[in-house]
Amino acid sequence: MNIYVDSKMADKARRKHLYDGSLFIYSTTPSGLKLCELARELTEEAFHPLDPTKVHESLTAEKSAEVLAVMKPRFIHHPKAKEYIRGMLTEIGCDLEKTYFDVPRLRSAFPGDYLKSGIAYAFHPHRDTWYSAPQCQINWWMPVYPIDYDNCMAIHPNYWSVPVKNGSSGYNYDRWNRESRQNAATHVKTDTRVQPKPEEPMTLDPDVRTICDVGGVYLFSAAQMHSTVPNTSGSVRYSIDFRTVHRDDVDNRLGAPNIDSACTGTNIGDFLRGTDLDHLPDEAVALYNV
Ligand SMILES: [Fe+2]
Repeated sequence: MNIYVDSKMADKARRKHLYDGSLFIYSTTPSGLKLCELARELTEEAFHPLDPTKVHESLTAEKSAEVLAVMKPRFIHHPKAKEYIRGMLTEIGCDLEKTYFDVPRLRSAFPGDYLKSGIAYAFHPHRDTWYSAPQCQINWWMPVYPIDYDNCMAIHPNYWSVPVKNGSSGYNYDRWNRESRQNAATHVKTDTRVQPKPEEPMTLDPDVRTICDVGGVYLFSAAQMHSTVPNTSGSVRYSIDFRTVHRDDVDNRLGAPNIDSACTGTNIGDFLRGTDLDHLPDEAVALYNV
């Protein structure tokens, strides 16, 4: 696996490398920092007067889930969040005319067994392409507070070219949206929602844990195998992620190779053009809606 740090590579070549399994890490950018500050502001307001990274020490898991259920959608749909993402895309060399992004998610990973399901789902190893993401999807991941190896996300590079038996054939994006997503906050201790999981034992070592500063970001293909690292840090980890696709690659069906995904439906209708927030045209979505 190749890891590029603060690369000045043009976006087209960068996408090609991402589709070949490389990672790209970028230091803090002005808009990236603003996006993190917005997330902090909303989180701190929601848990006031507590330190959001220590709420597990004084609140019940049910109470934290309740607070997050109100706060997370506020971040996701905040108009400033979209503005800052557009800023970041420009700062990192994407063409806003051709780059489409989806709304950012704010995620939390609690220490131990405190809260690992529903609204704070601890992701088992998966590829986003098992969840109806197109092969050309690029994931952008950012810490909201400083992170370390014991509360971050891991990529499992050995599985880039090794297929894993998985449950993606039972996953359909439209059905998931209809039936499961709204209920996230009701799953506090266990999560009964059907999610594509590995269906054979996996070897998660070695893994790659990318640690960047607040306001920094790293990019990886949606086809990378990745998981939430069990949080043994004693602090709640908050992170932001969003995704992009490039119009040329959507139209030309470019992207990472599909080695083991069999889901149906597509999330591609969710992406918004960088310039005017227009959706992709129906004919582009139809290419992926199988
Ligand atoms: Fe993921």
